[in-house]
Amino acid sequence: MNLMSDPRVKRFSLTDLRSARESGAKIPVLTAYDFTTAKLMSQAGVRVLLVGDSAANVILGHETTLPVSLDFMAELTGAVRRGAADAFVIADLPFGSYGASDEQGALSAFRMVQLSGCDCVKIETGAASIPLVARLADAGVAVMAHIGLRPQSVARLGGYKAQGRTAPEADEIVVLAQKLELAGAVALLVEAVPDEVGAAVVNATRVPVIGCGAGPACCGYVVVTQDLLGISGHSPRFVPDYGPGVKQALLQAFGRWAQDVTTGHYPTAAHAYAMAEPKKTK
Ligand code: KIV
Repeated sequence: MNLMSDPRVKRFSLTDLRSARESGAKIPVLTAYDFTTAKLMSQAGVRVLLVGDSAANVILGHETTLPVSLDFMAELTGAVRRGAADAFVIADLPFGSYGASDEQGALSAFRMVQLSGCDCVKIETGAASIPLVARLADAGVAVMAHIGLRPQSVARLGGYKAQGRTAPEADEIVVLAQKLELAGAVALLVEAVPDEVGAAVVNATRVPVIGCGAGPACCGYVVVTQDLLGISGHSPRFVPDYGPGVKQALLQAFGRWAQDVTTGHYPTAAHAYAMAEPKKTK
């Protein structure tokens, strides 16, 4: 069945996100990069998926998020869209696809929406991004503004450091959040800030605020899935430790395959195609 065209599939929408913000219901969000995993996440009840440019790290093995292209991100987002028809899918606009001018950013966002079928685009925003957010909002694009730690600015920041740890820096983040909301951002993502700053952003705005290491006051929380599963080799301090289960299960399956092949226990008759019965002649 093509779930995308199935009228029985009720997609989690921006209205649902807003209702959660109103009611105080917490929203679980995970990063997703492929069809199969997105399908499992949807089955497990995770209704908001972020196709993050962290794909550069956990899918492609780059040290930073900078090398991925818009087309690569759109391919991944399309796969997640097909895997989770009922999810609200957020697509990251990658580095270099929006920094040159508002026009370039707008065209990139339109391309992402058209190619991938995402519900929302996320951009890493400073004060200079406010006109782009306004332009996209005017064009009908749902934009999530990413503030706090912005990994695409790693070169300028000098590393992946928590942000907003002094009062002036915290104020700057809160004021920026308000301006982005005013410009038309439908949601905010706040990364790596003290709990107080996460709470201040929530209190100063009315849009859904998703935290990624931004404390308990946020309306929802996102982590990189490979970190949650313990298979990325590095998990930030705000990612819960669910034990070695998934990593062990994967190692066991890969090891068993290697052993069965090298010891001649695979393939057996159970894995064989039988020859067709010869046609009977009179
Ligand atoms: O790219 C990503 O996965 C993200 C999250 C870490 C918030 O932006």
